[in-house]
Amino acid sequence: MFNFDFYNPTRIIFGKDRLEEINKYVPADAIVFITYGGGSAKKSGLIDKIKNVLGKRNIHEFGGIEPNPRYETLMKAVDVVKKEKINFILAVGGGSVIDGTKFITLASNYNADARDLLKYGFMRIPFDVVGKVVPFGTVLTLPATGSEMNNGAVISYEHGKFPVMSELTYPTFSILDPTLTFTLPEIQVANGIVDAFVHTTEQYLTFPVNGKLQDRMAEGILQTLIEIGAPAVAEKENYDVRANHVWSATLALNGLIGAGVPQDWTTHMIGHELTALFGIDHGQTLAIVLPALLQVKRQQKKAKLLQYAERVWHIENENDEEKIDLAIQKTSEFFESLGIKTHLSEYGIKADEIINVVNQLKVHGLTALSETQDITPDVSKKILETAF
Ligand code: NZQ
Ligand code: ZN
Repeated sequence: MFNFDFYNPTRIIFGKDRLEEINKYVPADAIVFITYGGGSAKKSGLIDKIKNVLGKRNIHEFGGIEPNPRYETLMKAVDVVKKEKINFILAVGGGSVIDGTKFITLASNYNADARDLLKYGFMRIPFDVVGKVVPFGTVLTLPATGSEMNNGAVISYEHGKFPVMSELTYPTFSILDPTLTFTLPEIQVANGIVDAFVHTTEQYLTFPVNGKLQDRMAEGILQTLIEIGAPAVAEKENYDVRANHVWSATLALNGLIGAGVPQDWTTHMIGHELTALFGIDHGQTLAIVLPALLQVKRQQKKAKLLQYAERVWHIENENDEEKIDLAIQKTSEFFESLGIKTHLSEYGIKADEIINVVNQLKVHGLTALSETQDITPDVSKKILETAF
């Protein structure tokens, strides 16, 4: 196992009817800024309920944070934070609203061109660049990204999606009430299952380092998602299924399963370019790329792929190559069973557009991906061709 630091200060408030807890963790004299998305949280009455709980506190609102939140939108919210002297932010929504809020709080405390904050990638923004932020909590409405219990954000600017990380952008608390997911459209539930699944495989399907507990936690999350995937999509108000979805998605990317083990974020990096270029949903891009990545890297990932085949999919009798084939096939079939297509061509992309994706990877410096940095643009091209 590799050396690691594990730090995660986010308080999780999980379960039905927990909104009242906001009162405990938002200071009584706070000037609160509620951030939300395109309107689902307004329509469901959630924003009104939250305002009710906040009572006499001074409240400002900012709606319209779009999926794959855009820099320009977020900078409008930064103006409000500065002007109104906001000292607590409450993000109400899915990954996009929570990520956007992380950027809003960072940019509100940065006095130069905030586009600078997009250049750090997976490196944390140093404290001498942004040393303090306005604290924020979240009310999660879409289980998928893990943003409710991690310090990452992904911000869209021009034709790119840029990871932004800072030790200061862990939410102070997150309310995880599975009933808030009941209003989700089926496709967003399916996207959320795939996102959590792929976050897990990216910290698991690499090479063995004898991280026995991390492996078994990852396998537990994968098996849970496989078990609850279909009912999560089909049964809108199945509380137990949604509760398992929410907690699996949070644990898939709160740092725990990735501590001390190699990681391969290739699927996400290629997926981000597909969203930026073609507007394909985040979860769908992952369902396109992951099976193809596993196929192309099957030799390098052989040991973990066999473990995945045996422990997650219970494939026992075949020889090694057949086990890997079947595990990859079952992975694609699982995504498809949720209603998510797994081939680029099924999203109206033409074969000659693959090169544009490869060029964007180069523009963004993503030329040495994977746990061993051996996914060059040529290998990415092969992955995209396999995914076609
Ligand atoms: O905007 P509204 O009207 O709220 O509608 C949203 C949006 O259209 C809707 N929605 C959310 N909760 C709902 C609901 N509709 C009805 N009922 C509810 N309860 O769902 C749509 C998608 O929302 P979005 O927040 O974009 O989805 P998701 O949570 O999948 O977030 C995707 C974003 O997160 C980033 C992605 O790149 C993408 O930008 N990621 C963030 C990560 C992180 N911070 O760690 C890691 C991930 O890998 C991911 O990259
Ligand atoms: Zn993701």
